[in-house]
Amino acid sequence: MSQRTCLAIVLAAGEGTRMRTSLPKALHAIGGRTLLEHVLTAAAGDEIAIVVGPDHGAVASAAKAIAPKAQIFEQRDRLGTAHAVLAAKDAIARKPDDILVMFADTPLVRPETLAQLRAALSAGAAVAVLGFKPADPTGYGRLVMQGAELTAIREERDASADERKIGFVNGGLMALSGEHALTILQRIGNANAKGEYYLTDAVAIARDMGLKAVAIETAEDDVLGINTKAQLAQAEAVLQTRLRSAAMDAGVTMIAPETVFLSADTKFGKDVIIEPNVVFGPGVTVDDGAVIRSFSHLEGAHVGKGARVGPYARLRPGADLGEDVHIGNFVEVKAAKIEAGAKANHLSYIGDARVGPGANIGAGTITCNYDGIAKHHTDIGAGAFIGSNSALVAPVKIGDGAYVGSGSVVTKDVPADALVVARAEQTVKVGWAKRLRQIKAMGKGLAKKK
Ligand code: UD1
Ligand code: MG
Repeated sequence: MSQRTCLAIVLAAGEGTRMRTSLPKALHAIGGRTLLEHVLTAAAGDEIAIVVGPDHGAVASAAKAIAPKAQIFEQRDRLGTAHAVLAAKDAIARKPDDILVMFADTPLVRPETLAQLRAALSAGAAVAVLGFKPADPTGYGRLVMQGAELTAIREERDASADERKIGFVNGGLMALSGEHALTILQRIGNANAKGEYYLTDAVAIARDMGLKAVAIETAEDDVLGINTKAQLAQAEAVLQTRLRSAAMDAGVTMIAPETVFLSADTKFGKDVIIEPNVVFGPGVTVDDGAVIRSFSHLEGAHVGKGARVGPYARLRPGADLGEDVHIGNFVEVKAAKIEAGAKANHLSYIGDARVGPGANIGAGTITCNYDGIAKHHTDIGAGAFIGSNSALVAPVKIGDGAYVGSGSVVTKDVPADALVVARAEQTVKVGWAKRLRQIKAMGKGLAKKK
C-alpha cells in the first residue's frame, strides 16, 4: 500500500465563530502544537492540499511553515464540505491513487487510522468513511448500512425518524479513490435541508456508479471535532492522556501523570523521573536519568544526562543543561549553556550565558543581561565560584577557577583563578550599638519624668 500515491486535502475554511476569538480555529493549539500542525503531522508523507477561507493568510502561512510543499487553495464561499474539497480540484485532477479528506478541526486522528481508510481503498472500495458510536448521535451524519456495505450517509437535518435512530455515525474524514473522486464530487448537488454541497453524498453517488463504499469503525477520540473552547480543552485532555501513556510506555517514571503536561514533541531518554506538577512546553528534550522535580516549567530546553531540575525551576528557550547539572528552586535559565556538573541551586537568573563545567552559582546570582536596549553575554569559566547575591553585569567574563565574593556587582572581566570583591568594604565601629541603646534609654527616662 505504501507504493500508492496519496493526496491529503485538509479543510481549514472553518470560521470558528463558536470559539469566540480572533484567532482562526485551525491555529488554536493543543499539546503545544496548532490543530493544523497535528493534522498535517498525521498526514505526513502524503501530498498535501490545504483549503482555506478568504482572509486566511495566517492559516496559509502557518501551513507553509509546517509543510512547505503544501498547495494552498481558497474556498471563497462556504457552500459545504464537498464544495470545499473541490476547491482543490487541480490537485484531485492529477489522479493520485488515494485521496484523504481531513478536517483541520479534527486533530486527534492517528496515522494508523488514516492507514486503515487507505487500506479499504486498496481493497477495492471507492469511498471509505470513519464511523464511530457516540453516546449521543445527535448532530452527526448517520451511516446507513446494508450488511457490511455503506449505502448512504444521511445528515441529521435530512434524516427520517428511523434513520435518526442509527447509532453508527460519520466521523467526517473520508478516503476517496483518486480514479473516481472528481466524477463523484462533481455529481454532488445541494438539494438538501441546508442547501449545501455535502461531501457525505459521495457515498450514495459512488453506489449509483456501481462502486463500493465502506465504513471503518474507530474510537470516538480519533474524530473528536473542535468547535468550542470546551471541546478544545476536551481534545487537550485526550491528547495529554495519549502523550503521558506513550512516555510511560517508553520508560519514563511519572508519580502523578495526570498532573504532568507534555507537548507533542517532548522527547525523553531512558530512566527519566518526572515528579508531580511539571509543564513541558514545546521543544524540550530530556536525556537519560534526568530528574524533573515538582512545579518546574520547561520550554525550548535540553536537559542533559543525569541532570536535576527543580523543584520550582524555569527553563526557557535556549536553556541547554549538560550532564549532571543541577538547577534548583526558583532558578530561571534562558539562552544559556550550563556545562557538565555546574550547579545553580537557588534563586538565580542565568540568561544569555555560558557556565563552564563544574562552576558553582551561589544563591541569588543574577546575570544582568539587558541594559534596556540590547542583550549581552556572560561567560563563566570552568570551576568558577560565584558567591551568593552577585550581579554579573554583561558583557562580562569570569575566568576559569575564579572566585567572586558574595554580593559583588561585577562589571569588568575577572582573570582566571583571581578573587574579585566588588562591594563596599566592611567597616566596624566597636561599641557603637551599645552607646546608641544607652542614649535612647536616657531619652525615654526624661520623657517619663515629665
Ligand atoms: C460533518 C459531516 C457529518 C459528520 C460530522 C462529523 C458533512 C456534510 N457532514 O458535519 O456527516 O457526522 O462532520 O463531525 O460533511 N468546511 C469547509 N467549507 C465548507 C464547509 C465546511 O471548509 O463550506 C470545513 C469545516 O471548517 C470543518 C469541516 O469542513 O472543518 C466540516 O464541516 P462542518 O460544517 O463542521 O460539518 P458538520 O456539520 O460537523
Ligand atoms: Mg463539524
